[in-house]
Amino acid sequence: MYSKVELYNEPEKKMEQMVELHYSEMTSFQHSFLCGLIKEKKPRKIVEIGVSAGGTTALILQCLKMLNVEAEMYSVDLMKRWYQNEKYETGFAAKKMIKDLKDKIYHSLLVGNSIPFFLEKIGNNIDFLILDTTHTLPGEYLDFIVSLPFLKEGCVVVMHDTIENHLVCRDTEVATKLLFDVVRADEKYYMWEEKINLSGLPNIAAFKVGKETKENVRDIFSAMTISWGYLLKDREKEKYRELIQKNYGDEYTLLFDRIEILQRNTYLQKQILEHYGKQADYLKMKWKREKIIILYGAGCYSDLYYQWATLNNLRVDALVISDGQEKVSEYDIKVPIYFLSDLPYKQEECAIVLAISKQYYQLVLQNLKKAGFDNIL
Ligand SMILES: C[S@@+](CC[C@H](N)C(=O)[O-])C[C@H]1O[C@@H](n2cnc3c(N)ncnc32)[C@H](O)[C@@H]1O
Repeated sequence: MYSKVELYNEPEKKMEQMVELHYSEMTSFQHSFLCGLIKEKKPRKIVEIGVSAGGTTALILQCLKMLNVEAEMYSVDLMKRWYQNEKYETGFAAKKMIKDLKDKIYHSLLVGNSIPFFLEKIGNNIDFLILDTTHTLPGEYLDFIVSLPFLKEGCVVVMHDTIENHLVCRDTEVATKLLFDVVRADEKYYMWEEKINLSGLPNIAAFKVGKETKENVRDIFSAMTISWGYLLKDREKEKYRELIQKNYGDEYTLLFDRIEILQRNTYLQKQILEHYGKQADYLKMKWKREKIIILYGAGCYSDLYYQWATLNNLRVDALVISDGQEKVSEYDIKVPIYFLSDLPYKQEECAIVLAISKQYYQLVLQNLKKAGFDNIL
């Protein structure tokens, strides 16, 4: 059913006394699985997405050294500073190993952006890819989609945290397992990892990119409708989109655009349900009946309602804040901010959405009532 690889634990053994190894976020089995694949494949161009401290980066470099292969390796991470402790740079644990590399191995640490910003610089013919970032959609799943055109046929793709949703009991952490299951690949590597949990199902898996993988990319795109756990920032979305446009063409770009809008709306609606306490559609119905809509507050909740309203072509006329508060918003909201006493509308014309933390509701409602505003959506 699944392919197996001969585990290779020599690199880990060699590093046992080295502090670098302790920063790796993989288990001993996962090290042997990863190194086993490297030993079998002898890759020439490795890309690792998700570096953290760099413990696994160091292990891979050690493995390449022991195999005496010529290779280039690119380690990519969104964060310049270590996500677990900002005092350290991302990849700090691999720095010494990188400095001591001899001519045969080239290494480049690319931090501060996600993979689409680096792919063209890294170039084609990637023959080993390791995905280990957020585990939450779009995460590694979308990273694979944009990376696929840069992968050589036969490229081994290793995905970490394939049962992370069970290990940490967070339902959204399914990106790598979804990819593993949806991707078409004749060779999929899946081996029991006895010590990780009761089931022995592994928290790491891999597959080999074949002709069939590229031919069946349609289904990989399609499964991106499964709910996302976070939204892409505008600049990032544009970059992913640019690569999809260049490498997959118009039809796939349109599909991506439509999926992204669906996800954006759902994500915002979920947050509205949580904050407002009722379905966003109910709010929409009430919103549409009003002449003037004012968001009370200038923080993250007004950003939430503003984004959702903009996406759904609903009007927002202004933000309002209590007199004496600072009249700025750190969000990109393109309507004026007024103090309550300066609102240039008649009280009876305004419908107010309380875009503030629930703990302030009573106080704000009192203020609004005193100022003659009683239409609260
Ligand atoms: C689980 S850690 C990686 C662990 C590392 N592979 C290891 O085995 O030690 C996840 C890393 O992914 C990075 N990350 C999160 N989202 C990312 C993204 N979209 N693109 C690139 N890196 C990302 C985080 O900053 C973090 O360093």
